[in-house]
Amino acid sequence: YSSAKEFDTVVIGAGPGGYVAAIKAAQLGQKTACIEKRETLGGTCLNVGCIPSKAMLHNSHLYHEAQHGFAKRGIDVGEVKLNLPQLLADKEKAVGGLTKGIEFLFKKNGVEWLKGVGTLKSANDIEVTLNAGGSEAIKAKNIIIATGSEPSPFPGFEIDEKQIVTSTGALSLESVPKKMIVIGGGVIGLELGSVWSRLGSEVTVVEYMPAIGAGMDAELAKAFQRSLSKQGLKFKTSTKVIDSVKKDGKVLVNVESAKGGKKDTLEADVVLLSVGRRPYTEGLGLENAGVKTDSRGRVELGNEFRTNVSNIRVIGDVTVGPMLAHKAEEEGIAAVEYITNGHGHVNYDVIPSVIYTHPEVAWVGKNEQQLKDEGIKYKVGSFPFSANSRAKTIDDAEGLVKIITDAETDRILGAHIMGPNAGEMIAEACLAMEYGGSAEDVARTCHAHPTMAEAFKEACMSAYSKAIHA
Ligand code: FAD
Ligand code: NAI
Repeated sequence: YSSAKEFDTVVIGAGPGGYVAAIKAAQLGQKTACIEKRETLGGTCLNVGCIPSKAMLHNSHLYHEAQHGFAKRGIDVGEVKLNLPQLLADKEKAVGGLTKGIEFLFKKNGVEWLKGVGTLKSANDIEVTLNAGGSEAIKAKNIIIATGSEPSPFPGFEIDEKQIVTSTGALSLESVPKKMIVIGGGVIGLELGSVWSRLGSEVTVVEYMPAIGAGMDAELAKAFQRSLSKQGLKFKTSTKVIDSVKKDGKVLVNVESAKGGKKDTLEADVVLLSVGRRPYTEGLGLENAGVKTDSRGRVELGNEFRTNVSNIRVIGDVTVGPMLAHKAEEEGIAAVEYITNGHGHVNYDVIPSVIYTHPEVAWVGKNEQQLKDEGIKYKVGSFPFSANSRAKTIDDAEGLVKIITDAETDRILGAHIMGPNAGEMIAEACLAMEYGGSAEDVARTCHAHPTMAEAFKEACMSAYSKAIHA
């Protein structure tokens, strides 16, 4: 006899991995619960990640354009003033609407939300420490761990989310810092660095590696850094951060050349730490069920998204692979399909990356260096937005499309785009690659005129023969 509530599938964590898995499981007829300890659903992505950052990127871009871009377009608006509390409130509105939306989808699909911390007690038992007080015992045939990630700490920096902040604090600063130092020139550093730079902060990005962009194609990384520099961001690449001291309301950051030697001290009002994220398993009780983690704290991933305990599966940021919302979602669906149908699939060769700055940068598949390392012969086709009619029409023509194809078969191996609409345009590359398409296939597909997407078509033309407009 057990008084525990019983479910077919219980998902722990309601981020993009977990909530999608829970909805899919319910849709496929599983009695499903999702345990989430936040007061709102949607995980990192909806609450303190993708969604609030994109809201702020959009509005800070409009503000910056109103200040620096409107006049040349023949629009005189007089003095442009920032209302930061309203900009933050508008971000919260987007977050609130979308997190409520997930709650609605849970109800619609019959997913039970258990509000509290889920702790494994055995391979089939979970205890939920309820936010409202007390606890509840749950039995599950299948468990999906989707507990996500958290910002990696940095020795020598004490996070207070006011002066020394992670992305979470940087999404809610109460005033525009005069000077901001961003540690780590990856995705978070460049997106949120851009936001505060546009709002008026003097932003310096300190990056350990010689290039920014956390592994993007080297040609694009250079072009991107040039573009951001023109916008006013400063970069210190090949620079190692040592530690920090708080003094007279400022933070002093000690750095030195990555090759050793030259030391420097930078001063800031706010420091953003963005050197990566780490898997989050606190309070999850992995040890009680015998679930193993690897040397980096990630829950070990076997076949069919199983952990080493066969009825416990794992998806998203808490396990191996890129820490991206859409990767977590794909895994959520595939893991549930394995449970219900015995088959699921994620194509890890076609997972796009997007940096939502202006211009945006987006890529999918292999870059040149990776292909060189693998000894694969390739061809490159590229096309600049300065030769694209739509981009010229709207006077937003910085950047390029670069397509990499197999030298023998013309199959598209990678696409790398910097441009105003790169994040949307990359979907076309993904679709072509998913279907095993060649550059010629895309080049012979009719694209509407005038659109930015024509630049993608022309890059493909240039890869397999010649572009028309360049
Ligand atoms: P998470 O979203 O981290 O969700 C895990 C959830 O589990 C959390 O809500 C947590 O409270 C809950 N939880 C953990 N342990 C327990 C427990 N024991 N019991 C109950 N609940 C628990 N990705 C993109 O693809 N595009 C972007 O534009 C993008 N922008 C980002 C911007 C920022 C500033 C940040 C920080 C991240 C961004 N990401 C972006 C990354 C994206 O947010 C993550 O890849 C994604 O959220 C991972 O989803 P997940 O479901 O694995 O985990
Ligand atoms: P990241 O891995 O993108 O970038 C971290 C950067 O910090 C790298 O360039 C790295 O070389 C640098 N770095 C590491 N240690 C350093 C040191 N000691 N000194 C100086 N630089 C150092 O990590 P980030 O930006 O924190 O983002 C975390 C995750 O969130 C990423 O994996 C990303 O996928 C996800 N994310 C995705 C977004 C998107 O898809 N648009 C937006 C924001 C985050």
